[in-house]
Amino acid sequence: MTRTVFVNGDYLPETEAKVSVFDRGFLMADGVYEVTSVLGGKLIDFAGHCRRLARSLDALEMTNPHSDDEWLAIHRELVARNGIVDGMVYLQVTRGNPGDRDFAYPAADLPPTVVLFTQSKPGLAESPAAKTGWKVISIPDMRWGRRDIKTVQLLYPSMGKMMAKKAGVDDAWFVEDGFVTEGTSNNAYIVKGNKIITRQLSHDILHGITRAAVLRFAREAQFEVEERNFSIAEAQDADEAFITSASAFVMPVVQIDGKDLGSGKPGPVAARMREIYLEEMRKAAV
Ligand code: PDD
Repeated sequence: MTRTVFVNGDYLPETEAKVSVFDRGFLMADGVYEVTSVLGGKLIDFAGHCRRLARSLDALEMTNPHSDDEWLAIHRELVARNGIVDGMVYLQVTRGNPGDRDFAYPAADLPPTVVLFTQSKPGLAESPAAKTGWKVISIPDMRWGRRDIKTVQLLYPSMGKMMAKKAGVDDAWFVEDGFVTEGTSNNAYIVKGNKIITRQLSHDILHGITRAAVLRFAREAQFEVEERNFSIAEAQDADEAFITSASAFVMPVVQIDGKDLGSGKPGPVAARMREIYLEEMRKAAV
C-alpha cells in the first residue's frame, strides 16, 4: 500500500511527495524531529512530544509552524489515512528552502518545511525483544554538544548502531569522560536494589519524553530515583539495566560489553516499569 505523507499542508502519496534540494534540512541537517508512538490507533504522550518540539525549535530560533491542536489534527489525520493501529508518526520541521546554499540562516520569515509520515508496526508493544532483553556495547560519545535539541543530524548515532550490529548486539551506549551519556536513540538506566539510576538532564543528553514519564511512574511506585552519572563498570555490576524511548518503551538490557547483568535475563524492575508505562500511557493516549 502506498503511504500517505504530509508535506507543507498537503496529504500526498509518498511517491509524489517532494522537498527541494536546497532545503536546509538536506544541506545542513538544519531541522528538528519528533517520533510519537501509536498504540490501538491512539497517540502516546502526545503533549510531551509537542512540548519538546517547541523547545527544540526555540533553541534553533525557528518559529513553530503549528499550534498543538493543529499538530494533533495532522497526526490523527495521517494515522487515519494510513490505517495505523500500532506504529509511529515521524515529524520533521526544517528551516526551509532559501533557494541556495549559505551558512547564514535565511530570513526568519522563510516558511519552514514540514514533513510527517507514519510507520506501521503491528504488535509494537508486544515486542519479543522485551522478553529476552538487549545486549549493548559501549562506544565513545562523539556527537556535538547540544544533544538536548532533537536535531536530524543523526550520523554518529547511525554509525553507533552499525558498530553494535557488527559486534552482533542490539545497541551501543555512548560514554563520555568515563560516564554513560545515553544509547544511540534512547536513554540509559541501571537498577540497584530498589533504586533506579539514570544520568541527570543537561545539554549532554536528549530529554526523553519516555524518561520523564517513566521516572514519574517509578517514584509513584515507590522506587527510589537517582539522577546522576554512572560508568560502564558500575552498570556491569548493577542488578539490572534498561533503556527507554518512544518506540521501544522500556526495554531491558541484559549484557554490557560482553558481561551478563545478574542472571543475564530481563530483571523484575524493568519488566514492572514496562508494564506500568504501557498501561498508564494507553489510558492517557489521545
Ligand atoms: N529517539 N536519546 C536519544 C539520543 C534519542 O534519539 C531518543 C529518541 C531518546 C529517547 O527519547 P524519547 O523517550 O522522547 O523517545 C533518547 C527516537 C525514538 C528516534 O530517533 O527514533
